[in-house]
Amino acid sequence: MEKINILVLGSGGREHTFCWKLEQSQLTNQLFIAPGNGGTADLATNLDIGVNDFEKIKKAVLQNQIKLVIVGPEDPLVNGVHDFFLSDQALKDIPVIGPQKLGATLEGSKEFAKAFMLRHNIPTAQYGSFTAENIDQGYDFLEQMKSPYVLKADGLAAGKGVLIIEDLNEAKIELANMLLDKKFGAASSKVVIEEFLTGIELSCFVLTDGKDHLTFPMAKDYKRIGEGDKGLNTGGMGAVSPVPFTDDQFYQKIHQRIVKPTIEGLHKDNIPYVGFVFIGLIKVGEDPYVIEYNVRMGDPETQVVLPRIKNDLGELLLAAAERRLSQIEIEIDDRSATTVVAVSGGYPEKYEKGKEITGLENVKGSTVFHAGTTIKEGKTVTNGGRVLAVTSYGEDHSFALKQSYNQVEKINFEGIYFRGDIGFDL
Ligand code: AMP
Ligand code: GLY
Repeated sequence: MEKINILVLGSGGREHTFCWKLEQSQLTNQLFIAPGNGGTADLATNLDIGVNDFEKIKKAVLQNQIKLVIVGPEDPLVNGVHDFFLSDQALKDIPVIGPQKLGATLEGSKEFAKAFMLRHNIPTAQYGSFTAENIDQGYDFLEQMKSPYVLKADGLAAGKGVLIIEDLNEAKIELANMLLDKKFGAASSKVVIEEFLTGIELSCFVLTDGKDHLTFPMAKDYKRIGEGDKGLNTGGMGAVSPVPFTDDQFYQKIHQRIVKPTIEGLHKDNIPYVGFVFIGLIKVGEDPYVIEYNVRMGDPETQVVLPRIKNDLGELLLAAAERRLSQIEIEIDDRSATTVVAVSGGYPEKYEKGKEITGLENVKGSTVFHAGTTIKEGKTVTNGGRVLAVTSYGEDHSFALKQSYNQVEKINFEGIYFRGDIGFDL
């Protein structure tokens, strides 16, 4: 296999994990990441370029003879980074992993995603979609629904656009806040109101070339800041893979009712798609329903999913770009992988940066994936809310978690916090 230079876009734990796995790939010559973090600097060349600065990305791609680009976060995809490559003479033959703008709408618009599921008969919560023009119909719709009420800003709202409200009147007030007062800016000029589903959530990850697909290991993440799943939503405080309650029968239901029609639906709708589909699921009784689509890998789920894949990741991604996924079989490590995320004190609200991180060199038998870190005067310091994730393997999730907790205890920075109960519900 000819070795090539590869660029990863992003700066989180997800992207550090991509670099870690790609560094082991036979395909990789030189690895670049834009902008990267304090941990990626060990594996790749950090380029000081934002993920939405397409012109600078172009320059770096040409200058460094990049032959494969992996897009970590959703933002540049929704903003059309893949389309930008395709429409540029010098870039158009360089494969990008991540869908074009149209495919990215599955994450960029909740209404688009719901209509897609409805069209392709994919189980999801019942819904209605409303704008300022028909807000009265929105109020009527709420009156016909049962409490709690689920209100979702249609567009991207940095993970904050979903409200779950017990009281009908409060739900009406929030609907008005979203539609009339633009509570989430342009993202809430349209609102999807959904039936509330009760169950346990899990995530399914699929790599597709637009026609065929590989199913990656499932994972479960822990989104709330507090133990027992209490408190504010975060980007994710920990993750576990596999998910113990997905037996063979449930897995088959996910495949038949959700994954297969999703990939076929993209094909039928002429939505070109090379990249990851992250399907947020909820298990209601014994049946899976889709909560949401994301058009990228999850963070911190990537930190437990990629370590369980035995294949060469570079080969998988290149096969996706070259539409040859049907020829590939995925090999999965039987062990469990778990990750525990350490965050800055105060996160997800106000927190301080620039705290020196110590003890990293004492971690044994686990891998530390950096997220909000940077190098300052030769020292690794905090540079974000979610600072790092400690990933471990184990015979099952409880062994793996024990190891992650033993190791995260060795790391310190002022204000460090992590949840002590990842996997508590399994
Ligand atoms: P989302 O941004 O779509 O992932 O929604 C954020 C969170 O809200 C999800 O992870 C679920 O916990 C919850 N949620 C969203 N939609 C529903 C629903 N229809 N029923 C119950 N919970 C939901
Ligand atoms: N951990 C959830 C996400 O990446 O969206």
